[in-house]
Amino acid sequence: MRTPIAPSTLLAVRGEIVHFVDDPVERGIDACVHFPDGLLLVRDGHVLDCGPAAELESSLPVDVRHIDYSGKLILPGFIDTHIHCAQTEIIASHGEQLTTWLEEYAWPAEARYADPAYAAAGTGFFCDQLLRHGTTTAMVFTTVHPACTDALFEAARVRRMRMIAGKVLMDRNCPESLRDTPAVGDAESRALIEKWHGRERLAYAVTPRFAPTSTEEQMRRAGQLFSEVPGLYLQSHLAEQRQEVTWTMCLYPGARSYLDIYERFGQLRPRSVFAHCIWLDDEDRHLMATRSAAMSFCPTSNLFLGSGLFDLGRARDFGLRVGLGSDAGAGTSLSMLQTLNEAYKVLRLAGQTLTPEAGFYLATLGGARALYLDAHIGNFLPGHEADFVVLDPRATDLLEMRMSHATTLSERLFALMMLGDDRCVAAAYVLGEPGF
Ligand code: GUN
Ligand code: ZN
Repeated sequence: MRTPIAPSTLLAVRGEIVHFVDDPVERGIDACVHFPDGLLLVRDGHVLDCGPAAELESSLPVDVRHIDYSGKLILPGFIDTHIHCAQTEIIASHGEQLTTWLEEYAWPAEARYADPAYAAAGTGFFCDQLLRHGTTTAMVFTTVHPACTDALFEAARVRRMRMIAGKVLMDRNCPESLRDTPAVGDAESRALIEKWHGRERLAYAVTPRFAPTSTEEQMRRAGQLFSEVPGLYLQSHLAEQRQEVTWTMCLYPGARSYLDIYERFGQLRPRSVFAHCIWLDDEDRHLMATRSAAMSFCPTSNLFLGSGLFDLGRARDFGLRVGLGSDAGAGTSLSMLQTLNEAYKVLRLAGQTLTPEAGFYLATLGGARALYLDAHIGNFLPGHEADFVVLDPRATDLLEMRMSHATTLSERLFALMMLGDDRCVAAAYVLGEPGF
């Protein structure tokens, strides 16, 4: 018999609960916690307990608020470790390779975010869409404009979402209207850090877009700033396309590799997150591992732009932290389910695999570990923030048919990650409150 729980602001959410306490690839099936008829107890926005409904019900006060999601799955809110809030407008624009896609679509889209009213509307829509897709935490590139970063943080704050974001630093090889200077970029980043970093659930990421669009002086200042303020993040792009790597190495002739550029400027440390990481060698992987930096695996974007196949197996061999990224707008979906779908296919093309457990781990606890947030989010351990997504495994006729022929949790999770998208998201809760 459990000790009775005091009422306060207690919420009991019933449904089929799945979460991860470790990486199932390392720890095996014990890493996955599954309560077919479970109860998630939330008090003051945090997880109080989680377990079989039959066991927990008896300890609840009679007047506790219940929400019944029987027949649906309850998982920790999804974590998107790499996305661009000002590219929603151009998602699914016909592109070829990275540089032309940037010039034709990304730059013009980002230029519109100079206008604070436009930025407020766009970032509000972006946050709502994240929630609609079950994503409760994201690491986000804004634009070069502080107004866009202000707008995004405010949109996340009013929705109480966890958000890591930063103003893009970019002082060369881009249109004049999107260019800052080392001094201006530095001053604007510092002002934004002062205003937003560590406020409620928000954190700032120093954001040199990628090595080719920053001068050495800007890269130096970015590394310096990153080292100065506790808890800061740094985000950038790394080794996405072969052509981009060749171009970048011409711009930094002394560097051993693309990654070595970030290393030379002090940008490779815990809490730095690099999107793509496709064209690396083992020396790079070893360096990333020793610096405790993280990779964001962005399969829909990598397939869309024809960038290449991320080597998850090799990243694992080096014990690297890896999260999942949509990279929308070059990524083709905001849905972490669709991102897992394409992650699976990328890995198959490389002769690897992604079990459904490993996939949902990546989208939840794996992402939290990549972002050094696993003490707060990523699973339902007591005390963690109560961000969760409710998935309807029968959201479409096809899923309904497929589910009626599935016998195990693994089969059902796999069907969800291959056939599911935002139609499956019945609800997304942020700190125990519905996010939409
Ligand atoms: N590299 C530099 N900027 C970008 C961007 O906006 N999208 C992608 N996919 N790669 C980039
Ligand atoms: Zn990106």
